[in-house]
Amino acid sequence: MNNKEQDWLKLVDSIGNYLAPSMAKDHPNLPVVKAEGCYYYGADGKKYLDFTSGIAVENVGHRHPKVVEAIKNSTDHLIHGPSGVIIYESILKLAQELQEILPPKLDNFFFGNSGTEAIEGALKLAKYVSKRPYVISFTGGFHGRTVGSLSVSTSKSKYRKHLQPSWLTYQLPYTNPEDCPAGADPEEFFAEKLEKEAAKLFRHQVDPEEVACMIVEPVLGEGGYIIPPKSWLKKIREICDRHGILLIFDEVQTGFGRTGNWFAAQTFDVTPDIMAVAKGIAAGMPLGVTIASKELMEQWPMGTHATTFGGNPVACAAARASIEVIKEEKLLENSRDVGEYAVSRLEELKSKFPVIRDVRGVGLMIGFALQNTETGEPDGEAVMKVLDGCLEKGVLFYLCGNAGEVIRMIPPLTVTKEQIDDGIKVLEEVLASI
Ligand SMILES: Cc1ncc(COP(=O)(O)O)c(C=O)c1O
Repeated sequence: MNNKEQDWLKLVDSIGNYLAPSMAKDHPNLPVVKAEGCYYYGADGKKYLDFTSGIAVENVGHRHPKVVEAIKNSTDHLIHGPSGVIIYESILKLAQELQEILPPKLDNFFFGNSGTEAIEGALKLAKYVSKRPYVISFTGGFHGRTVGSLSVSTSKSKYRKHLQPSWLTYQLPYTNPEDCPAGADPEEFFAEKLEKEAAKLFRHQVDPEEVACMIVEPVLGEGGYIIPPKSWLKKIREICDRHGILLIFDEVQTGFGRTGNWFAAQTFDVTPDIMAVAKGIAAGMPLGVTIASKELMEQWPMGTHATTFGGNPVACAAARASIEVIKEEKLLENSRDVGEYAVSRLEELKSKFPVIRDVRGVGLMIGFALQNTETGEPDGEAVMKVLDGCLEKGVLFYLCGNAGEVIRMIPPLTVTKEQIDDGIKVLEEVLASI
């Protein structure tokens, strides 16, 4: 290790002097000097296989050459907008290209900088155009950390503690395939259950005519990588239509190929009225988008919602390059194909290690829950042991789940079966040692 690297590691040791603990203490906070493709290069000189993609951001792999080139080209010409004061090609071309990959009628865009901003935009739009005050979200969902997003997020109470998010919202339970009684068909069981739960909510707590929108993650992300039956999402759509409620899909994590199609809306064959995307859109550049039909957006007059940095030209250029790479390298197909392979490899491990309770996967959005082998309870401690053990051996996984009991495997969509095998080999060694 050279002097510069040693200094850098010393600086990391004193991180608390500089960064707020809420920012600095996530797992594993690995000191990194470079990233490329599916790998991080640590300040310790080690190479790490990255099964986190910077939490579902680097869908085309870290620093894809086409993205780097697009960023360099853009910075040679224009670094900042703001749109409204000026207008530039990358934002309009990106909008056109998004129209081509989104479900029909999701064709008008408000560009921001992050997931939580895309959600704020979606909620504000729904309330504004419907002139209705309330929002329904689903228990366990995570939509961001600003106050509007927080008021619909219920994945962990610590995010809301002392904050009392100011918008009054209502919750319906997210589905959990584990709760399906033996012999029942989950497609029927959960749709019927939701119908009853919604009727109860409307009867006792809120009149549906006062509900602006329902917001849902089509696959529960932070809340535990739970994949609902298609019919459950279709039932949400049906209930919304019945009562003139707008449906928002939070595709911040599921978008841009993560579930094997461009969007989970296509994977589950349900089209929302409003969609929020971010994370995987721009290969690491900050960009978030609130998406709706032109008819809906036109009811949100000029000046009601705006931004200084949103839709930044460099980020838009990176997003355009990233979309091109997903098409050229057939990454949607890879997400489905390698995702299926990874799930089958994890299922093999599940049959060997009873600590693995279950494996969930759609495309390359994969999670496996750990349990205490004696009590069957969710085991967050075992998760931390596995994450640390894998890290030690050069593989990065991430966690999720309300009790931190789920390990998420979200590699870049460029990942190969060989790289999956490399990671699974390490995971197997670690599971055998805990
Ligand atoms: C489903 C979902 N929605 C919203 C957000 C918030 O995004 P951001 O952290 O970019 O604000 C996240 C972040 O993890 C997310 O997973």
